[in-house]
Amino acid sequence: MKQKYLHLTTFGCQMNVHDSEQMAELLKRSGYEATNDVKKAGLIIINTCCIREKAEQKAYSALGRLKKLKLNKPDIIIGIGGCLAQQLGAKLLKKAPYVDMVFGTHNIHLLPEMIEYIETTGSRILETGFHESVRSLGIPTLSLNSRVSAYVTVMQGCNNFCAYCVVPYVRGREESRELTDIINEVTTLADQGVKEVTLLGQNVNSYGKTISGHPGFSVLLKEVGKIKGIERIRFMTSHPKDLSDDIIRLFPQIDELCECIHLPVQSGSDHVLKRMKRRYTSQDYLDKVAGLREVCPDISITSDIIVGFPGETEDDFKKTIDLMEKVRFDGLFSFKYSEREGTEAVKFDDKVKEDVKKRRLREVQSLQKKHTLEKNKTLEGKTEYILVEGISKKCRDDVMGRTRSNKIVNFMGGVNLIGKTVTARITKTYLHSLRGELVCKEVEKC
Ligand code: 5AD
Ligand code: SF4
Repeated sequence: MKQKYLHLTTFGCQMNVHDSEQMAELLKRSGYEATNDVKKAGLIIINTCCIREKAEQKAYSALGRLKKLKLNKPDIIIGIGGCLAQQLGAKLLKKAPYVDMVFGTHNIHLLPEMIEYIETTGSRILETGFHESVRSLGIPTLSLNSRVSAYVTVMQGCNNFCAYCVVPYVRGREESRELTDIINEVTTLADQGVKEVTLLGQNVNSYGKTISGHPGFSVLLKEVGKIKGIERIRFMTSHPKDLSDDIIRLFPQIDELCECIHLPVQSGSDHVLKRMKRRYTSQDYLDKVAGLREVCPDISITSDIIVGFPGETEDDFKKTIDLMEKVRFDGLFSFKYSEREGTEAVKFDDKVKEDVKKRRLREVQSLQKKHTLEKNKTLEGKTEYILVEGISKKCRDDVMGRTRSNKIVNFMGGVNLIGKTVTARITKTYLHSLRGELVCKEVEKC
């Protein structure tokens, strides 16, 4: 049989990246091999995101390019998945007649059947129903980029309904996976050589809370920590309101739990936080940060900030800058507020002007640049544990790995180091990566 090829483009967050990994794994079972060459592909899937306008625009541009491709090659199958597909559904099929398949965030497990249907009937298909549980969640998938590190979804959806956010509408209500299913999945991955898992969910700290008597996130972390072969555990994303002292205390207790956390603050102004419906104050946030640093002084803290939320005054914005100065994040994702249809914030009529949003974003980004450089600089001269993930993108004589605090380190080394934890001395630091030199390649024997 002739080899069939799949080309997958992913927009958006880690959740989407992992969904794409699962799509690739499922379609492998239907005879499709993933390729980076779009011209070779018989099946093209775009995994879309609609969390911000920019992500949505990117998806539309990608769609435009596919229109031309389909004209030249009518046999290719084009599928659109992800949040935008979930949100637009039938409208998308109507708008883009060259698209064969539109499927939502809860329908990934149906992909093989959908493809078979299109291959045999030539008809177009729409699948955007919300099922009680996302069955494809349980497919152990190695990352497309790494044999060493893998994502594992522990919960899906979100019940928080922050006023700006479309996620609860496109990913549905919060639902935790069974503990044993997660443990089995991580064990399978460990058996395949995976050393690091990132537990994924929109709000992992509330894992188990929607089921009465179900173990919570602390128990999950402890259980994953016991799995043989797993050397590192990370998790994302955490909502500050659900980051309990119990979880904070686990950082020094579970050896495998890496010293890093992504803790989105969104704003430093209590007025804005209230309107965003975040359910914490800036002081609550600072207290969490202090708690984390007390038990784990070198913990790396990253965050998300939105500038220009409706009603954000210069004074509110200044409070965000003040909070950044107090916390000094290791890294930050910052965004201009982007109005999303169906969310509560659409109703607010005190919108912030685009040029003001732009200026505030620039200010946040330039301050963060300074903080990231400062933070990275403190690592110069230190020896760090590095889990080697692969050959460096920039230089074939170098390998690339990460510190426990999730910073990328490049240093001279060969493929024999991939999958190993080594130590390296940090010699130089940059904004997005660090330079190191190998100290010990068999850490257990050093
Ligand atoms: N506008 C701007 N940023 C947003 N985010 C979510 N929704 C919006 C929006 N409407 C950001 C938040 C969130 C991150 C994943 O995306 O900062 O934490
Ligand atoms: Fe969106 Fe808020 Fe849920 Fe995060 S916690 S996914 S920002 S609604």
